[in-house]
Amino acid sequence: MKIAVLPGDGIGTEIIAEAVKVLRVLDLSFELETAPVGGAAYEAAGHPLPESTLALAKAADAVLFGAVGDWKYDKLERRLRPEQAILGLRKELGLFANFRPAICYEQLTHASSLKPELVAGLDILIIRELTGDIYFGQPRGRRTAVDGHFPGSEEAFDTMRYSRPEIERIAHVAFQAARKRNKKVTSVDKANVLETFQFWKDVVTEVHAQYPDVELEHMYVDNAAMQLVKAPKKFDVVVTGNMFGDILSDEAAMLTGSIGMLPSASLNAANQGLYEPSHGSAPDIAGKGIANPLATILSAAMMLKFSLNQPEAAARIEAAVQSVLAQGLRTADIWSEGTRKVSTVEMGDAVVAAIAAGTTMT
Ligand code: IPM
Ligand code: MN
Repeated sequence: MKIAVLPGDGIGTEIIAEAVKVLRVLDLSFELETAPVGGAAYEAAGHPLPESTLALAKAADAVLFGAVGDWKYDKLERRLRPEQAILGLRKELGLFANFRPAICYEQLTHASSLKPELVAGLDILIIRELTGDIYFGQPRGRRTAVDGHFPGSEEAFDTMRYSRPEIERIAHVAFQAARKRNKKVTSVDKANVLETFQFWKDVVTEVHAQYPDVELEHMYVDNAAMQLVKAPKKFDVVVTGNMFGDILSDEAAMLTGSIGMLPSASLNAANQGLYEPSHGSAPDIAGKGIANPLATILSAAMMLKFSLNQPEAAARIEAAVQSVLAQGLRTADIWSEGTRKVSTVEMGDAVVAAIAAGTTMT
């Protein structure tokens, strides 16, 4: 088993170091190989996704990814910006299915910006289509408008599009995931306005015929944004396109108290996956040793489960995370009165210790 480790920028290096520490203590036989990505790769090799990094990712059984991006690269031409690294990896590896769970840990119920009773026990799964939609649709660019409200003026445009197979495969992923959970899928669209999403809705409805045991509901994206803060526990699996999924997954993450707790997985048809925290590179707190490594540590657990066929090892990590929370250890983002504030490294050490303690108990 080979794991490509791509720390990236900002807090990426700090949180990945903790996840790697946790993976090593599990004593499984895998090879870890690190490569630069994002702004770090631009500095080192002149490109956010160098050929060698891409080749390593393609050859690996799984990719463990930190985060990319820094304001200092905002002025670079788009193809050289750090974000192009993650977009390029998604596209080149065909990682079309993005799993973003939003789970509210019991001990963190009070860290949510919503009332505790709205989020206690929350466990929803956002499945975001990741290689299509307006993110990748062609054509896109800038030109002189020939029509519209201001013909003759400068304009910019992107293209929202989805093909039938793209919608079908993500719909299958969602229905199959729902079968293992509470058997309900909410498909989020904007069919009342956009042709792309009327088509999305039609195709999801067709695929649903193969899953009579799963309940399907359709919801407009504006209403979904509202329902997520009104009654989030009514959702089970939410499936949606790339852009709506980007927005709704950040919203859902915040319900749980901290985006610093949430892992994510992006899978292709061969179950090869890229695993990354749901949060970004947070350049404002980079280098301070205060970032929460738990989202990345939990992403490593997802990797063990989904791509490396090591569900027991994943369960040991998850139990250890529960244990450090129960011990009252908190990084700054989830700290509250009466709990103990710890650094990134201390949190990683605590997870390692909890795994070791768990091993001796069994
Ligand atoms: C995410 C991020 C990315 C996205 C950016 C960094 C390109 O926001 O993974 O959600 O928009 O998909
Ligand atoms: Mn995002």
